[in-house]
Amino acid sequence: MSTPPQSSTSRAPEAVAVPGPDPHSYARPDQVRVRHVDLDWDLSFAQRALAGRATYRIERVDPAAPLVLDTRELTVESVSWAPAEGAFQGAEWSLGPADPRLGQSLTVALPEPATRVRVVYRAGASDGLQWLDPAQTSGAHPFLYSQSQAILARTFWPCQDSPGVRTTFDATVRVDRDLRVVMSAEDHSDRAARPADRTYRFHMPQPVPSYLVAIAAGDLEFRDLGPRSGVWAEPAVLERAAWELADTEKMIAAAEQLYGPYRWGRYDVLILPPAFPFGGMENPRLTFATPTILAGDRSLVSLVAHELAHSWSGNLVTNATWADLWLNEGFTTYFERRLVEALYGPERAEMEASLGLADLRVDFADVAADPAAQHLRRDLSGHDPDDGMNAVPYDKGALLLRTLERAWGRERFDAFLQAWFEQHAFTSVTTDDFLAELGRAGGAPEGVDVRAWIDGPGIPDGAALPSTPAFEAVDRHVAELLAGKARVTQLPVKGWSPQEWIHFLQRLDGRADPKLLARLDEAFGLTRTGNAEVLAVWLRLSIGADYGPAMGRLEEFLTRVGRRKFLTPLYKALVARGPDGAKRARAIYGKARAGYHSLARDVLDEVVGWSAG
Ligand code: BES
Ligand code: ZN
Repeated sequence: MSTPPQSSTSRAPEAVAVPGPDPHSYARPDQVRVRHVDLDWDLSFAQRALAGRATYRIERVDPAAPLVLDTRELTVESVSWAPAEGAFQGAEWSLGPADPRLGQSLTVALPEPATRVRVVYRAGASDGLQWLDPAQTSGAHPFLYSQSQAILARTFWPCQDSPGVRTTFDATVRVDRDLRVVMSAEDHSDRAARPADRTYRFHMPQPVPSYLVAIAAGDLEFRDLGPRSGVWAEPAVLERAAWELADTEKMIAAAEQLYGPYRWGRYDVLILPPAFPFGGMENPRLTFATPTILAGDRSLVSLVAHELAHSWSGNLVTNATWADLWLNEGFTTYFERRLVEALYGPERAEMEASLGLADLRVDFADVAADPAAQHLRRDLSGHDPDDGMNAVPYDKGALLLRTLERAWGRERFDAFLQAWFEQHAFTSVTTDDFLAELGRAGGAPEGVDVRAWIDGPGIPDGAALPSTPAFEAVDRHVAELLAGKARVTQLPVKGWSPQEWIHFLQRLDGRADPKLLARLDEAFGLTRTGNAEVLAVWLRLSIGADYGPAMGRLEEFLTRVGRRKFLTPLYKALVARGPDGAKRARAIYGKARAGYHSLARDVLDEVVGWSAG
């Protein structure tokens, strides 16, 4: 067995050219492709570490080529190979130079009979795993969860970490505490009682990309929502979660009605502690969700519609690289709104589409200096794929599909999407595949310049923009209020949905003084609202207008919640207030940072001007 040429840690990381088809992966699936992986993991809460063994079944397209896996900050202990039948023996392997984002390639030489490879490794402080203290949970136990999208899977297991590579997997997971382990897979343990040996087994029969292999462990309990759906949460949250998500089974039925059968068996939702950096993550069979959707009135369940929709757009038909993220997120955002429409009616769906358009306009303004960041198809080579994360793939993508729907009519467009999911099921697709599919369907409809949507900035002419009478009414009230023609107490807020509140508050942004905010707060108790979406806009408004009484709640929110979509605008608004605001931002960030996920810290360090040490 050779001594691995571990790259020296004293050398500064160098940029590394990626030779393969995906600029964010060293893997060469065109040469050797992993088809199945057996994961054997020991979770140590005591050490905050994962000790792992991954055994791969490989397909050798080029018999002379080695296996190349992605790793990042893993300690590789040994690598071995085996023929289809027979014992493992030591392999020749090496780690490439380390890139801070892409990590290191792990190259394994493959003797002629090798069809299996095993890597024994350890993941200590891994950016893809967040180990939470009991104080960050709703109980007295610690918690662990993974977040792999886009390229963090490689920080806790060696893999061909590209959405263009799919594998089935089996997993055996042992844990050093009396905690429940769950994964994005078929669960072979009893949901009602934890196994005495603290060993959990999972099986994933459908091939999935690495970014969809997910794990969590905590004091979790389960509640059924329907015959094939349920929710996992900490005991203190379970009851509220089950009530909030009561419509889940209906959503699955509505989705199947639209685009064909749900192909993953069960659909469960895991409610995570508030540190989770996203609203939701579409881990197959087990959506991970922020507790900030638990508003007490089911008003924020479009997030579940979104993650469920990914069971088709994303998990079944997957973007081949992160350049085509819009094929995941734009299709899903469109699909999400179709589900909201089916369950809650067109008015609510249209309001949510309008809020999405408002987000899109904000983000366009944000990247005004970088028109390429407004394209649906991105060139992200040399960049962190996370740099492509904004409303563009989501809401511009959804707007393109809306525009196609309007041009063709719903019936024809639905048939197009059904065929898309059917024909590309369990494969990874590119924007060119989408264009080819459009071509086969007779080409883009008259008046829709698909190229301008995909490879151009902004919103092309002729877009099917959403609009809703409910928001137009709100706009009139805002105008009257600001003109002094109506008082706060005359606002007809009684029947307002959280969506109308959000729109109302967004419209006041930059136009309200602290006196007006005080009157609104007195009349409607906004600083105390339990709806996180409403609160986030209200707090942003309060920062902008220098409304002092909301600042206590701001600090409470920023130190408890880790959802990046809320945090980023709030810290930005503080910093935009000048030296005093920036000082306050840094003071709060100093307390909160250790509790945030690495993906939130990466963005916020820059916003707040945080420097290590
Ligand atoms: N898959 C995304 C989250 C994601 C995207 C993580 C890209 C890392 C890289 C998930 O489905 C998502 O879109 N979440 C949104 C939900 C919202 C649009 C309803 C979120 O977290 O806010
Ligand atoms: Zn999504």
